[in-house]
Amino acid sequence: MCGIVGGIGKCDFRDYVLGGLKKLDYRGYDSAGLAYVKEGKVNLYKTPGTVEALASKVPAFEGAEIAIGHTRWATHGDPSEVNAHPQFSQGRLVYLVHNGVIENFRALKTRLKARGYSFLSQTDTEVIADVLEFHYLTNGKDALKAIRETEIDLEGSYACAIIFEGDEHLYFMKKGSPLLIGVGDKAMYLASDCLPMIKLAKSYVDLSDGDYGCLSPEGLTLYNEGRAVEPVYSERKIDDYDYDLRGYPHFMLKEIEEEPMVLSRLIDNYFDPESGEYLFDPSLLKAMKEADEIIFLACGTSHYASLYGLEFMEFYGKKASSYIASEWAYHPISLSKKPFYVLLSQSGETADLIACQKIINDEGRPNLAIVNVKDSTLSRRATYSCLIYAGLEVAVAATKSYIAQIGLMALLLGALTNSSSPVRHLEKLGEAIEDVIARKEDIHETAKKITGARDAFFVGRGSDYSAALECALKLKEISYIHAEAYAGGEIKHGPIALIEKGTPVFGLISEVDTALPLRNNIEEVKSRGAATYIVSSLSLSSGKDAFVTKDVKPYLNSFLKVVYGQYLAYYVSLEKGLPIDKPRNLAKSVTVE
Ligand code: G6P
Repeated sequence: MCGIVGGIGKCDFRDYVLGGLKKLDYRGYDSAGLAYVKEGKVNLYKTPGTVEALASKVPAFEGAEIAIGHTRWATHGDPSEVNAHPQFSQGRLVYLVHNGVIENFRALKTRLKARGYSFLSQTDTEVIADVLEFHYLTNGKDALKAIRETEIDLEGSYACAIIFEGDEHLYFMKKGSPLLIGVGDKAMYLASDCLPMIKLAKSYVDLSDGDYGCLSPEGLTLYNEGRAVEPVYSERKIDDYDYDLRGYPHFMLKEIEEEPMVLSRLIDNYFDPESGEYLFDPSLLKAMKEADEIIFLACGTSHYASLYGLEFMEFYGKKASSYIASEWAYHPISLSKKPFYVLLSQSGETADLIACQKIINDEGRPNLAIVNVKDSTLSRRATYSCLIYAGLEVAVAATKSYIAQIGLMALLLGALTNSSSPVRHLEKLGEAIEDVIARKEDIHETAKKITGARDAFFVGRGSDYSAALECALKLKEISYIHAEAYAGGEIKHGPIALIEKGTPVFGLISEVDTALPLRNNIEEVKSRGAATYIVSSLSLSSGKDAFVTKDVKPYLNSFLKVVYGQYLAYYVSLEKGLPIDKPRNLAKSVTVE
């Protein structure tokens, strides 16, 4: 959520800032802006809407010394030009871009008003600019002192890039929201993640909470809580491969089709075929074995993935539960004596989950973070951390990370039960996904039939119900069709009233015990006018089914229905001409509550 790009030194800043903001657009945004310093003077451009709209406003600015840019996902105030970042202070001495939420901004506003400040925007960010300016002026224009004093005043989360008018440095501060420094040849950079800098930076510094400091073209000066800190430099963070469409029209399509590769990379990272041993931390396995309950916490797609984790733990004979993080954070009740928590998150930055982890850590309970982003906040704060190695996921709608999360939990099950079978099962799953990929055009044909639908339903029982939840989420996220998932038996208890002539209903069939009752449910809606599509596993299929997936191990069969659902959502969105990789109002990483 919100993207920050900045730099100082010798650089084509127009290209870097606008191109960088484009690369961050997967995070979700609804307005954009930039500021640059040329010959000591700050120039500011902002607009609601897209980075392209911003680019059309911004002239060439060769020779700029410093630049900052921002994509804003509105939290305080509508997505308007005045609320877009950079925000500036009343005396126009401070310009800044911000990612995060200032929780005490109302109290700070009241204090500033008493000091004669008035405000142009509805944002919490403008307040930071004014607080900075106040401390700047009361500290003889010492920018670092002003930042330190501002940090003490602020409650909440922030990653900020800051320009002080007349000062030759680019300043920053960070708490709770990600910010990364990039070291270039004749310039220094900063950004919310490494994407904008991958072609320019030779090494990176991952800022920690409480870090603040300044950049000059030659280097970085870093402080934390008033003390100088030695920066820790690391090498390249991601491969260009991940941020290259490689001939695909959309990242979502590329990422779906990477799923078999992601599964085999996951196996390579967690299983040694020579010794036949899993490579999980033995103390993690011990802690999970000793727990009397495994509690999964997650949001969105990760929550639906966790439903499989719960099922796997039940196979293992462990009591398990799964909660939506934003709910659990307000009702963190566990009746178990020795709970073990599993926190699933693609980004590792989801605010609701971080709130849960704080409660868990404060109680001294062990927790495992399963994340896709190395060194993300959740993984840093967790007792144990496992990467899912899905590679950068650019499309807002999660696809390959979902499959990798479930793959990782299947491997954990293997390690806990001392069985290498899940490895073979996942290899077979990869092959079965290849088979869905090879027949994607069949799904495209079905997608064309439902593009005009107002509502759609996905129905399943058992693990197919978990798959149905994810299929419905994908469809609503990117095609904007209202989609719901129902457990087959529930259809008669209300949802059937919604069936009209032509309403698309997808029945998912992967389990032998529930295949027949599910077919009956589909017959019931069909006789009330629904346009029904059955997606079944080969051994449970009938000649009339809309799509048939290969048979894999029963506990993995329903994932193939999710791959079907991912393609369906993709093609419906494609047919409707919607922005597939960046659907309206959504953000890839939800860093606010
Ligand atoms: C946002 C994204 C979803 C994602 C959810 C949880 O809503 O748009 O795709 O499933 O956050 O994100 P996480 O990074 O914690 O998995």
